[in-house]
Amino acid sequence: MRLATTTTAAFIVCCSAALLVLPTAAQTHTFKYKETNNAYIYEAKPGDFFQFFLGDPQFHFPCVPENTDCKKQCTNSGTVCESRYANKVQVQSIGALTQQLTARGFRPRSIIMNGDLTDFGQDFELSEFKSQWFMDSQLGGMKIYPGLGNHDIQNTVDHKNCKQNECADRMLSFFIDNLERHLKIRPDYQVYQDAAGKWYYGSFAYSWNECSPTNPSQCVHFVQLNNYPSYSRTIEAYPKGRWTVMSALNWLQRDLAQNQQHPVVVNFHRFDTEFSDADRASFRSIISNKSNRVLGVFFAHNHSGYGVRHEEYWCINGRYVPLLYSGSVPGNNYLLVRFTGDYRTISIVESHHVTGSGYTNVYPLQMKTGSC
Ligand SMILES: *[C@@H]1O[C@H](CO)[C@@H](O)[C@H](O)[C@H]1NC(C)=O
Ligand SMILES: *[C@@H]1O[C@H](CO)[C@@H](O)[C@H](O)[C@H]1NC(C)=O
Repeated sequence: MRLATTTTAAFIVCCSAALLVLPTAAQTHTFKYKETNNAYIYEAKPGDFFQFFLGDPQFHFPCVPENTDCKKQCTNSGTVCESRYANKVQVQSIGALTQQLTARGFRPRSIIMNGDLTDFGQDFELSEFKSQWFMDSQLGGMKIYPGLGNHDIQNTVDHKNCKQNECADRMLSFFIDNLERHLKIRPDYQVYQDAAGKWYYGSFAYSWNECSPTNPSQCVHFVQLNNYPSYSRTIEAYPKGRWTVMSALNWLQRDLAQNQQHPVVVNFHRFDTEFSDADRASFRSIISNKSNRVLGVFFAHNHSGYGVRHEEYWCINGRYVPLLYSGSVPGNNYLLVRFTGDYRTISIVESHHVTGSGYTNVYPLQMKTGSC
C-alpha cells in the first residue's frame, strides 16, 4: 500500500506587518490525487472514520531546520514570522484535506493537539493560537481537543517572565474553560475555595469517544493526559489561584476501568526521560489491563518526529501497540489516522509540505500488524 497522494497547496505567508512575502491572493488549494490502485482514502469503508493528530503549534517558536520552505519565507524576519507561517500552512493543509475527505463522505471527526499550544503561556501567544486555530473558517468548525505541554505549564513555573505564575495560570484557565464551554467535557479536577483564593486540584486529564457517523456503536475512546502521565507540580498563582497538577496514572486506571467497551488511544505531550522508568512501567501496566484494548500511544514534543518513533512498539496482550509522534507545526507535518471497523490496525497518513514546492504529500505509513 504505497500511495502517493499528492496535493497542491498554494501558500499564504503571514508575517510581521512590515514584511509580506507573498500576495494573499494565492489562497485556494487544488487537490490532484495521483491515483494508484490502492488509494488510502478511497479504500476507506463506510463506518471507518478519520482523526487528525498534531503537536506543538507553540506560538512563537522557529520552524525546524529541515522545514526550509518556512525558513525561506521568513529570511531575516525571525521566529514570529516562522511560527505564523508554519501555523498558517498547517491550518490550510488540514482545512483542504478535510474538504477532500468530506466530499467523499468522510469528514474527519476532530483534531487532537498534543501539547505546547504556546511557547510560554503569554497572553499574545495564546491570543494568536486561538485566532489561528479556533476562529479559522478553513477548519469548518471542526472540534479541537487540546492538551497542555511543558511549554504551556512546566517551563513557565516560577519564571521571572511570568509574575505570580500568570502564564501557567492563563493556560490552565484557558484549558478548563475551553473544554467545559466548547467541548462540554469536565477534566479531572476539583476546586476548593479558601481564605487565600481558589485551589484547583487534580490531574486535568480527560477522555471522550469518537464514533463512526454511520455506525454509532463503532467508537474509539480517546484519553488526553497533558504534559506526561506522571507530571505533578503545585503552581502558586495567588491571588488568582493555586493549581496542583497531579499524576494522571490513578485517573487513567479508573477511566479505563469505566470504558472497556471501545478500543483506546492514549495522548500526552512528551515521552522522554522526564517520564521516569518507574512511572513508565506503571503506565504500561495500566494500559496492559486485559479488559482494555489500546490501539496506540500518541505524543509530540520532538518537532522533527512524525509516525512510529524509532520503530517502537509495545507488545500488549499479544498485539503491537505503536508509540507515535503526532507530528508538529514547526515541522509542518501531522497525522491523519483512519480507524477501521475491525480495529486490527490503525492506518496512518503523513502529510507535510515538501520544501519549496508548495505541495502537501499524503501517504500511508507502514505499520507493524499481526500478533506478537
Ligand atoms: C483491570 O481492570 C479490572 C476491571 O476494570 C480492574 O478490576 C482491575 O483492577 C484492573 N487491573 C489493574 C492492574 O489495573
Ligand atoms: C526526534 O525525531 C527525529 C526524527 O525521527 C529523530 O531523528 C531524533 O532522534 C528525535 N530526537 C529525540 C531527542 O528523540
